[in-house]
Amino acid sequence: MKTIFSGIQPSGVITLGNYIGAMRQFIELQHEYNCYFCIVDQHAITVPQDRLELRKNIRSLAALYLAVGIDPNKATLFIQSEVPAHAQAGWMLQCIAYIGELERMTQFKDKSAGKEAVSAGLLTYPPLMAADILLYKTDIVPVGEDQKQHIELTRDLAERFNKRYGEIFTLPEPRIPKVGARIMSLADPTKKMSKSDPNKKAFITLLDDAKTIEKKIKSAVTDSDGVIKYDKENKPGITNLLNIYSILANKSIEQLEQEYAGKGYGEFKADLAQVIIDTLTPIQEKYYHLMESDLLDQVLDEGAEKANQVANKMLKKMENAMGLGRKRK
Ligand code: TYM
Repeated sequence: MKTIFSGIQPSGVITLGNYIGAMRQFIELQHEYNCYFCIVDQHAITVPQDRLELRKNIRSLAALYLAVGIDPNKATLFIQSEVPAHAQAGWMLQCIAYIGELERMTQFKDKSAGKEAVSAGLLTYPPLMAADILLYKTDIVPVGEDQKQHIELTRDLAERFNKRYGEIFTLPEPRIPKVGARIMSLADPTKKMSKSDPNKKAFITLLDDAKTIEKKIKSAVTDSDGVIKYDKENKPGITNLLNIYSILANKSIEQLEQEYAGKGYGEFKADLAQVIIDTLTPIQEKYYHLMESDLLDQVLDEGAEKANQVANKMLKKMENAMGLGRKRK
């Protein structure tokens, strides 16, 4: 059975972009693959976090993973910092990564642009991500489009390590959905929908209530020609909304274009808001129930135990390959 690994940062809210680009793939893949899904809290601290908020967000993300449909009997769900091998392997991979290649990462450039103080962790974020992936002999990494570059770097680091120290790593492939790999901001459809957007109307979170969703979709930026048509170049706003609608309602873009021919944006947006509400309501019900139950800790304890066992084996191999510590039988 092939292995899947993916992670989500517990930094604030989880958006519809995270759900469509990443989580929906996870749910589907857990039936056919050996899956590891991680709450990457050590990646979250590459930018400042409030400690109480972070703790809350970690728990909340764990509940969301389960609420969207991750089955802990099928997949291993765990918190990155509870498996120390990640940071240890991350360090080793930092030592074979070049500053130049890390500085070329788009995410680093975006997140550091215009900032006076940029943490070293923001720069060395990708080797830690590579460690996440490589420790589990991962074959496939389901992610949204924005993470593709990091997976390419992971492959480069794995190849470099294999060449220098012996073939121990599997080279992972990204798995990026054909539609929905890049859900755009509702406020500026030329930008990615991002949880760190200061404009709260730019994204929908998985925990937004019906009224908020209606408001956000109503105020989503479109254009003035009033035609519901897929045209990425000239109609990025409507195109983004059509994408979201198509994925969540399981209808093709052509079908939607026909259904809304001659109809206005108002009606289209009201229906889309309802589709989103119908998708998120059952998830939210499960989420609030899970947050009150003891199940979360049980799942995360078991997940950490399993992940530690697997990750420590690879960590030992890495240490042996590099000559760290003493020779052990
Ligand atoms: P993060 O937490 O930013 O996002 C989690 C997942 O959601 C996807 N995503 C989107 N997909 C479509 N449209 C969007 N607007 C959108 N926004 C986010 C992301 O592509 C991602 O798949 N570095 C990673 C976390 C990570 C990781 C890993 C991922 C750490 N280690 C190992 C895979 C494997 C990140 O910051 O994702």
